[in-house]
Amino acid sequence: MKKLILSLVLLASLFQAKADEGMWLPMLLGKQVYNNMVKKGLKLSKDQLYSINHASLKDAILIFGGGCTGEIVSNQGLIFTNHHCGYGAIAAASSVQNNYLRDGFYAYNKDQEIQSQLTVQFLDRIVDVTADVEAGLKGLSWADRQKKLQEVYKSITDKVADKENGLSGRIYSMFKDNQYLMYVYKVYRDIRLVGAPPESVGKFGGDTDNWEWPRHTGDFSIFRVYGSKDGKPADYSKENVPLKPKHFLPVSIKGIKDGDYAMIYGYPGSTNRYETSYGIKLKNEIENPSLVALRDMRLKFMHEQMIKDPAVKLKLASDYAGIANYWKFFDGETKQLTKFNTFGQKQQFEKDFAAWAKGKPEYENIFTEYDKNYAAWTPYSKHRQYLREGILGSPLSAFASSLIALETALTKADASAADIKKAMDAADAARKTFLAAEDMPSDNNILAAVAQAFHRDIDKSQHPAGVYDSLAKYGSLDDEATYKKWAKDVFANTMILSNDKWSAFASNPTAGVLQADPAFAFAATFVKNYNTKYAPLYTAFVSKNNELGRSYLKGIMERDPKAAKKMYPDANFSMRVSYGNVKSYQPRDAVYYDYVTTAKGILEKYVPGDYEFDLPSKQVELFKKKDFGQYIDTARKDLVIAFITTNDITGGNSGSPVIDAKGNLIGLAFDGNYEALSHKIAFDKDLNRTICVDVRYVLWCVDKLGGAKNLIDELKLVK
Ligand code: ARG
Repeated sequence: MKKLILSLVLLASLFQAKADEGMWLPMLLGKQVYNNMVKKGLKLSKDQLYSINHASLKDAILIFGGGCTGEIVSNQGLIFTNHHCGYGAIAAASSVQNNYLRDGFYAYNKDQEIQSQLTVQFLDRIVDVTADVEAGLKGLSWADRQKKLQEVYKSITDKVADKENGLSGRIYSMFKDNQYLMYVYKVYRDIRLVGAPPESVGKFGGDTDNWEWPRHTGDFSIFRVYGSKDGKPADYSKENVPLKPKHFLPVSIKGIKDGDYAMIYGYPGSTNRYETSYGIKLKNEIENPSLVALRDMRLKFMHEQMIKDPAVKLKLASDYAGIANYWKFFDGETKQLTKFNTFGQKQQFEKDFAAWAKGKPEYENIFTEYDKNYAAWTPYSKHRQYLREGILGSPLSAFASSLIALETALTKADASAADIKKAMDAADAARKTFLAAEDMPSDNNILAAVAQAFHRDIDKSQHPAGVYDSLAKYGSLDDEATYKKWAKDVFANTMILSNDKWSAFASNPTAGVLQADPAFAFAATFVKNYNTKYAPLYTAFVSKNNELGRSYLKGIMERDPKAAKKMYPDANFSMRVSYGNVKSYQPRDAVYYDYVTTAKGILEKYVPGDYEFDLPSKQVELFKKKDFGQYIDTARKDLVIAFITTNDITGGNSGSPVIDAKGNLIGLAFDGNYEALSHKIAFDKDLNRTICVDVRYVLWCVDKLGGAKNLIDELKLVK
């Protein structure tokens, strides 16, 4: 009996949404979830949250670019998202002369808005396609299912694809392949940059403050979606007009209180709340520490050059931010998983599951199988990280390895001249893109360091044949200077970095010349070694894990059908809604964190001339004068910068609207807190917080700092 109680408690705490845990499917909100939202303070009907018959909140939410969320805030297609989501587009629009990334940018009329390469996607509808997917896979073994899956998906999405109206479908596996949903999107492709704060505001606190509360970052940027005159998606054109949205969010400047209702719509990218103890062990012991150590190295070399030269800074900024973001994340994730003993909790849960599964053929061997599967892959896991984050973490090496496609065309017996030309042209175009982003001094150091790290840390039996023998000609393989000398030679001699040599090669490409290139030879040898010997093992490992995961989750639901009704599927970049409250917290004993930060705190952190904590001088002046206008928080007599909520979100939600009980925008979600960085695997009901920039600070920046009253006038302000 005691055991039973223990296991039920564990089941509840591990898998069933508790407190404000849960990333819910907006079109499948159960009665209970909706009632909980109302209990928390929601004042909207279910239909106002999501409807396919008339405009609802979901129509104001969009996928921004490749991996963020944005929201429509005016009847002229104005979009709010995070600064770190618009970052690449802002950097791309910048030059050393017109440095919008550094200085900020506002369009004071629509003609000044800047074209970008971005797309945004609106959700048109969601369809349950489980039966169609299962019909397409009927009778297949697991391995064959995996092989056929994309083909079956395509046959289903082809039926809804509509080029003329920009509609396309994407199928998401839910509950680890126990359910399939198709989301149909309308994709717009004329997206223009409208506004961004200076980087010192948009990334205030830099990587020091990243993933941390208390926070003072003005993490917002502004874009606009354009379509054809009849509202259809279209390529960029002067004739296009701002999109008239089905719904846009009014913006509330009334301010927030501790305990207020907060709801977040958006596109969380990935979670693995049903991860096993085996997965956590591999992550904590091998995957995360390897990635962190290698990124640490690369970042150091990039930073060294970026602080010397604004042109290099602009060139590397976006890549640097992305690498740094998940460097800190994965470091913190392992620290928090260890602190919470998530491994131990999962083990206990698995023990109880195994006891229940005894005598049930479908489930009783799951953990023996997991054990075998992890044991088979673990010896190669570090190698995989060192290839991806190390060897291919050198941009030159990564580009060189992409030339394997050209080598294949050149060595194929029956390749036609047209095939070769096609491959050569593709390589030529890719090289131009590579060169535009290449910073040789940092890359040279990275190449030397990753070559040495691989040699030192990866089991000799897994080294690609020959590479280190030829490197040994430069000196002892235990000596850093050896790798430096070698890397310098690679950079001096590769045709990839010499226009003359490359042109000569491109006019008459041969496999021999390509294979003799030192950068290609190095990178290709590592990639081929991995692809032939280890990639098949990895594919088998992942496939088996998926198969086991599907049964495991099915078993969990079968074991406790009541709890199963309250389950939500793992995040997978499909639209979700999460509800909770504005709320303070206690990160450690005797420490209390307020639920808002203010202008006063910005001035406390401000370090003139600092790489991360500088500010525009105009901002400092206005703050000292307390010139906050209508954006002031009357209770605090200060400008509120950011606030925290209990919402369950993750990467991909960046830029998501934080919405009050009545459907008004109160902030933009932009981060998670350090104390709960284990959130992809386990939600902590006491410590998990979402960090949001207060919309009043956003508007203050636009209005007082940027002077873009034209944008404020476009909004529907709720006062
Ligand atoms: N941690 C934020 C997120 O993943 C990104 C913040 C970007 N800022 C930075 N300093 N790298 O949504």
